[in-house]
Amino acid sequence: MNRTMIVAGTLLLGAGAVMAQQEIAVQQDNLMRSQAKSLYTVIQKMTKGEIPYNQKAVEEALTNLEADVAKIAKTFEVNPKQDVVDANYGASQKVWQNKADFDSKIPPVQKAIADVKGKVKNLASLKAAYASINDRCKDCHETYRVKLK
Ligand code: HEC
Repeated sequence: MNRTMIVAGTLLLGAGAVMAQQEIAVQQDNLMRSQAKSLYTVIQKMTKGEIPYNQKAVEEALTNLEADVAKIAKTFEVNPKQDVVDANYGASQKVWQNKADFDSKIPPVQKAIADVKGKVKNLASLKAAYASINDRCKDCHETYRVKLK
């Protein structure tokens, strides 16, 4: 093999690895965005009166949120060592320096969801549920989420 081919091959391999890492970062970001859809686009907007209270939508949002939160530990297993292009937030390197502590922030979110599931019946109980869940999301973001812009 001539030298040019080797160099081209190495460059291709490098580009492939970078793409794979970006893909991992995108998956992590998409999971968070999906959670935000349930908690902010549906639940928070209802608590603010921006959309009408809807029992079925509340229950769906809580079910989707529960399923997403269960995926956090596995989705963040690999360190992509890069942020999503143009993202507002990125993951701190601390996630992978202290993965056990990162993972320990997940069960409290799950408990907050389980505690309110099936019990939200009106706007007042939805507001309480929103606050109790969001506080637990923040407990992880405080340490492990970085504002990029
Ligand atoms: C165990 C830690 C952890 C928990 C729990 C957690 N997050 Fe995150 N979240 C992160 C990290 C790390 C980032 C930054 C990396 C990223 O965006 O993927 C993030 C980013 C985000 C972002 C910004 C996405 C963007 O780039 O625009 C939103 C929105 C978000 N989380 C919502 C939530 C919601 C809602 C909950 C609770 C239901 C939650 N998160 C629970 C770790 C967590």
